[in-house]
Amino acid sequence: MLTGKKILVGVTGSIAAYKSALLVRELIKLGAQVRVVMTDSAKEFITPLTLATLSKNSVAVDFLKKSDQNGFEGEWENHVELGLWGDLFIIAPASANTLSKMVSGTCDNLLMAVYLSSKCPVWIAPAMDLDMFQHFSTQENLTKLRSKNIHVIEPQSGELASGLEGKGRMEEPEVIAALIDEHFNKPSKLRGKKIIITGGPTYEAIDPVRFIGNHSSGKTGVILADACADRGAIVTLVTGPTHQRTKNPKVNVVSVTSANEMMEAVQKNWEAAEVGIFSAAVADYRPEQSAPEKIKKKDESLQLNLVKNPDILKWAGQNKRNQYLVGFALETENELENGKKKLINKNLDLLVLNSLRDSGAGFGHDTNKVSFIKPNNKITSFELDQKVVLMNNLLDQIEFDLP
Ligand code: PMT
Repeated sequence: MLTGKKILVGVTGSIAAYKSALLVRELIKLGAQVRVVMTDSAKEFITPLTLATLSKNSVAVDFLKKSDQNGFEGEWENHVELGLWGDLFIIAPASANTLSKMVSGTCDNLLMAVYLSSKCPVWIAPAMDLDMFQHFSTQENLTKLRSKNIHVIEPQSGELASGLEGKGRMEEPEVIAALIDEHFNKPSKLRGKKIIITGGPTYEAIDPVRFIGNHSSGKTGVILADACADRGAIVTLVTGPTHQRTKNPKVNVVSVTSANEMMEAVQKNWEAAEVGIFSAAVADYRPEQSAPEKIKKKDESLQLNLVKNPDILKWAGQNKRNQYLVGFALETENELENGKKKLINKNLDLLVLNSLRDSGAGFGHDTNKVSFIKPNNKITSFELDQKVVLMNNLLDQIEFDLP
């Protein structure tokens, strides 16, 4: 059941828009509260009145609310409020045009403004003609959206409105509703578990202007935090400087800059945690002293005395009771050997190994190539894949290992 859940349904211009009425009805039957936002072209296929009646809520179409056909009330449709209202935003049908706008961030209608303001998981159920679906640009857009944690409900094959046969039919509303129900009610061993995650780089100040850092984008940490929260865990993400933002509003984000600050935040939260996933790229050394003023360019060379930073993961491993502890290792040579050493030295239950020698792996990319190493030397290796997919594989493995 979806009692207490708020589902935002987005409807775009496609012949499959008639199915959105059935989707709204199914969601209401399951006990969800439903609000609908639709594009102007979707109105050509299904009326707002039908969707308003079925959802028991007014339907949002324009930035300005219309009082009647003669004029505006002067009141605006609050896209931010709508975007933040939902526990899940499902765009069904999602046209090729809307997929493209979602990738580029084109905000030329209310549905897109709501999408760009939303914080909840976003799902799409594409519907279009088979050639449009197979077109490289649509496929590239879908790949990009998947990499941003947008859940794609694959269209089905069958007879299409064009009369052609192929892949492009929007998934049936009953199936979509059942998938949403499963998403919220899926039993997960992580539900209710307190999880601490580290992510991003650390910056070690040289002076007020300069720092020693690394290329970690923070993507992996944010993906992990959202995925854990989506499974019902109580998540604290301790992240170094990053432009990435969590989508799940339930994630508690603690922003830090240096390794010392990250250590302090981890120490505060470790006692209560049941699982720790340490994906941060922590600077191993920091300048012994950070100059109080910007260092002037005077001499031909400049000596910096570096001192060792605390090893946060090692500390967590030494202070482990019965917590499940995951570390990462980013290697450039002797990957397996070095990874195994870190697993033992840091008292880990699992180590995620990635190598900078694999293209598309490691820092910055939306993809990675990883192996999981367990203390019994069991190694599971994955092909290059989206970080979202691989980090969900990691959570599946943790769930499998937890009692
Ligand atoms: O943020 P992205 O751009 O998505 O990139 C993700 C990533 C490449 C940063 C990530 O996949 C990764 O590999 N993180 C670990 C990188 C690293 O610095 O590895 P390491 O071998 O130096 O450290 C081993 C482990 O000890 C890591 O879990 C690290 O978080 C931890 N560590 C290291 C040093 C230190 N002082 N404290 C730590 O906690």
